This record gives sequence, C-alpha cells and structure tokens, in this order.
Amino acid sequence: MAPKEKLLEIKNLKQYFNVGKANEVKAVDDVSFDIYKGEVLGIVGESGCGKSTTGRSIIRLYDATGGEVLYNGVNVHDKKSKAQLKDFNRKMQMIFQDPYASLNPRMKIADVIAEGIDIHGLAKSGKERMEMVYELLETVGLNKEHANRYPHEFSGGQRQRIGIARALAVQPEFIIADEPISALDVSIQAQVVNLMKKLQKEKELTYLFIAHDLSMVKYISDRIGVMYFGKLVEIGPADDLYNNPLHPYTQSLLSAIPMPDPISERSRKRISYNSSVHNYADNEELAMREVTPGHFVLCSEREFNNFKK
Ligand SMILES: Nc1ncnc2c1ncn2[C@@H]1O[C@H](COP(=O)(O)OP(=O)(O)O)[C@@H](O)[C@H]1O
Ligand SMILES: [Mg+2]
Repeated sequence: MAPKEKLLEIKNLKQYFNVGKANEVKAVDDVSFDIYKGEVLGIVGESGCGKSTTGRSIIRLYDATGGEVLYNGVNVHDKKSKAQLKDFNRKMQMIFQDPYASLNPRMKIADVIAEGIDIHGLAKSGKERMEMVYELLETVGLNKEHANRYPHEFSGGQRQRIGIARALAVQPEFIIADEPISALDVSIQAQVVNLMKKLQKEKELTYLFIAHDLSMVKYISDRIGVMYFGKLVEIGPADDLYNNPLHPYTQSLLSAIPMPDPISERSRKRISYNSSVHNYADNEELAMREVTPGHFVLCSEREFNNFKK
C-alpha cells in the first residue's frame, strides 16, 4: 500500500462557547487527529459530545478557540484572499442530518443541485448546466424527471440523495457527512450508506462521517474516532476498534449495538460507562497514546502499560 498522505491535520482543536455570563461549554476540547486522502474517518459519540462542532470548525463555520486545522498544509482559519476562500468552499462540502431542513422548499431540485455550479461558474451554458444536473441525479440513483420537482415531493431517502448530489455538484475533495442517515428509516439507511461508499470509491473522495452510534459507521469507515464530552478518547483502524476496543467508553458504545443473531442478542450485556472506573490519581497525566500501530487511546501511563500487556 502506498504511504498515506494527510489531507487534513487537526491539531489541539478547541471550540468553546460562552453560554450565559460565567458558563463556558468546552464543545471540543484539545482534539488532535489526521484525515488521510481517500479515507473514510468515522466519528462517533453520544449526542452533545462535540461531533458537529468538530465538523463545523474544520469547515470554518466557526473561528476556533484554539489549535489549528491544516488542509493540504494550509491553515484553514488563516486570513485568505477571496479566491482562496472560494476554492476552500468548493473543495469541502457538507451533507446534513436533515436533508429537508437544508433544502429550500421553494426551489426546484434542478436549482437546488445547480446552486454550487452557478456560484463557482462550473457550467459554460444553460444546456451544460442541465446536463450536469441530470448526470448528478443519475449518479445518486434518481432520474431526469426529478429535476422539475420540489423537495416536498420526495421521501427522506430521496432527499438525502439530493443532498448528496448537491454536494457532489461542485466536484469536492472532502465531504463532512453529519449524521446523514440518522433521520432515515432503518430500511433506507443501508442504501444511503452504500451509495456514499460507492461514490467515495469512484470519485476518490475523503469523508468525515459523523454518527451517534457504531452500527452503520463500521460498514463505511476505514478508521473510527470516538468522542466523549469534547474529547477524542480513542481512534484507530475500524477493525481494531471493533475487535479490541480499549477505552471503557468505546466498550460501552459497542455493547449498545444489537446483534443480528437472536441467541447472541439475548445474552448481550450492555456496559455502561462511568468515568470513575479509571480511578485516576491526581498526578496521572492523560494523553493520546499509541497502543498498536495507528490505534490511539486517551489514557494514563498506567492504563497504557496495562493495554500493552
Ligand atoms: N453555537 C453553540 N452555542 C453554544 N453551545 C453550543 C453551540 N453548538 C454546540 N453547543 C454545545 O456544544 C456541545 C457539543 O455540541 P455538538 O457539537 O452539537 O454535539 P454533537 O454533534 O456531538 O451532538 C453541546 O453541549 C452543545 O450544547
Ligand atoms: Mg451533531
């Protein structure tokens, strides 16, 4: 395998919010990880742990409180020329949880999809613009006839396909998908995940795929990161994380996944996580430590030595 090239480097990212006078929410608290070109990195963790904020800071919807985000070596938060900003806005796209909320109800699907094509001047004529729209519709499993309809005429799964087509329209390199299947019927979730996986391979895209549980993420991700209360607590190759979860919070998330086989499902034990299990002494320093190649856990040196055994 060719050496992995970093598309993004997230270094000590901090995103704090002031809520009320003296209250500060550390939505993202000193998080560091890399995203390699052409990979799918899944990020999981319960609601409120800072997944969306991480995604939004990367895509510059917020000015970071601290740390940096490098995209191809360039700090995304540094001041940029108009042309550079436009280029960033094209290369990085976002797909949202609720496609309906993110689609303007008064816009025809053709115009929804072509918005980015227009902004970035990617079509030379009206005819080419429509040809691009038709092709995008087919790419996501819809068809030409859908171009003149409005968002309310589509099912949830179809709307998410439209959201995907809209993101793809500007030929991005990197897509942040923020819980793209959480609002869909379970029967539809796999279809959308499969479509996203297929497109990622075909177009050599890089994804940050955010989800609140580990069940679907497994199928799409090369690596998975687990967040808990603003911290990244574990990250590693997807198989390692499933077969050998080390952080007790990751173990608890995994224990929450129902098993397809009814016999193992009956004996499945849910583990709940309580941070007191670590029993940290005052002088113990927590850091991301690499237990096996590429598999990092937020732990103390004492825990690290136990993992290594
Ligand atoms: N714009 C904001 N202002 C204040 N607090 C926020 C804001 N956005 C998110 N938060 C808080 O930051 C924390 C992380 O939120 P979020 O990133 O949305 O979590 P997740 O996507 O994992 O559910 C939560 O406590 C949330 O209430
Ligand atoms: Mg979220």
